[in-house]
Amino acid sequence: MKELKVTPIKDGTVIDHITPGHALKVLHVLKIPESTSSVVSILMNVNGKKGKKDIVKIENRELDPKELDKIALIAPKATINIIRDYEVVKKHIVELPNEVVGLTKCSNPTCISNAREPVESRFHVISKDPLRIKCYYCEREPEDIAEGII
Ligand code: CTP
Ligand code: ZN
Repeated sequence: MKELKVTPIKDGTVIDHITPGHALKVLHVLKIPESTSSVVSILMNVNGKKGKKDIVKIENRELDPKELDKIALIAPKATINIIRDYEVVKKHIVELPNEVVGLTKCSNPTCISNAREPVESRFHVISKDPLRIKCYYCEREPEDIAEGII
């Protein structure tokens, strides 16, 4: 039987090589569906050349750099493909920085970064695979990084 999955898109963004099972976290980070009325296709646990992966396709939308950094936090092996007129015109490989600033909240309610005073959240990346981050201010390690994404 000929394999028929989601068809190519004309214009937009394909987030490929997402850690299997993490597609919904990627949508959460991009505030989908609230932020868009575009067509969004989600594939979970598809067989890629290098094993299972999730894919998210968002039509007629390109992502900004801050969104790319947030995706790196939850899908460190993702590639972001910009599609224009059916062609892949750009392929970004997301990259984790050594420090994560202003992207995700500290899970400690008494941390200074959660106080009324505007102190931007700040984490050291202590391990990239598996991803572990630690608050610069209170040293707490969030259990679920996606949960805290701002
Ligand atoms: N894609 C799409 N619509 C298009 C073009 C590409 O949905 N008009 C999707 C492909 O299905 C694939 C992703 O965008 O999931 C990247 O496309 P491409 O670079 O052609 O695939 P690969 O070479 O397999 O990518 P990689 O090397 O990153 O694995
Ligand atoms: Zn903290």
